[in-house]
Amino acid sequence: MERAEITAANAKAWDEAAPYHARHNQERLLASFRTPGFSCLDATETALLTRAGIAGKRVAQLCCNNGRELLSLEALGARGCAGFDISAEFIAQANELKAAAGAEAEFIASDIYEIGPEHDGAFDLIYISIGALCWMPDLAAFFAVAARLAAPGGQLFLYDKHPIIDMFEPGLEGEAAFTPVHSYFRREPFAEADGLDYWSGQAYEGAVHYSFPHPLSDVFNAVIGAGFVIRHFEEYAHDIAVAWHKYEERDAQFPLSYTLLASKNA
Ligand SMILES: C[S@@+](CC[C@H](N)C(=O)[O-])C[C@H]1O[C@@H](n2cnc3c(N)ncnc32)[C@H](O)[C@@H]1O
Repeated sequence: MERAEITAANAKAWDEAAPYHARHNQERLLASFRTPGFSCLDATETALLTRAGIAGKRVAQLCCNNGRELLSLEALGARGCAGFDISAEFIAQANELKAAAGAEAEFIASDIYEIGPEHDGAFDLIYISIGALCWMPDLAAFFAVAARLAAPGGQLFLYDKHPIIDMFEPGLEGEAAFTPVHSYFRREPFAEADGLDYWSGQAYEGAVHYSFPHPLSDVFNAVIGAGFVIRHFEEYAHDIAVAWHKYEERDAQFPLSYTLLASKNA
């Protein structure tokens, strides 16, 4: 399949998921964002971003979904923020939250691969969080866009689930849930059609969507290949997705999430 066919299929699936997510989250988030200074970011990323310096930074979020993370970054002092997402339905939710927060961030409905040149070099920090990379059929082209949007010396921040968890099927019970099912080095996409309502766990018959299990070495190589220098990398035993908490409780732990900070070569 061509990249554009994959992203079009995924856009359809995400637009379908939007009302399910809204039913679960939107009222609560609207109430939260009416409180000045509200941030949904966890302690790990808040500490790292604060150390890296977020105040006054122009931030672009790639795959911003309902915008709650970007609005939180603005609450922490970021300015001139823009969020990009392929789903017009989620961008509409982001604009509702923006109004509740009285924020300035701009939300733009666009395929990441198609972001226009008017945004080139416009951002000090490119923020990418959980569940963005897995929708990307071409990591090299994705990070090339991140590098294009970053100003000289600009930073890249990545906080994602660790790809090792793509080896397991969290829906299985008992020890079966801890037995690898998929190769760590699998590169074919997962094609699924049972919906994307991971908030309430409700399955529904939806459009086929395609997600990609990228090994860490592919992520590193794409980041470096786009012209970034990696400054920080850390793995954690805590889960930042919604389906993997039971993997935190093992004595023999494995990494469930990671952070990476890089800066663009001047
Ligand atoms: C798991 S969600 C979001 C991540 C965000 N960290 C969050 O937790 O809200 C993934 C998002 O990626 C978006 N997406 C998938 N493929 C995309 C593409 N090619 N271009 C832009 N956005 C895309 C989807 O519309 C969806 O909102």
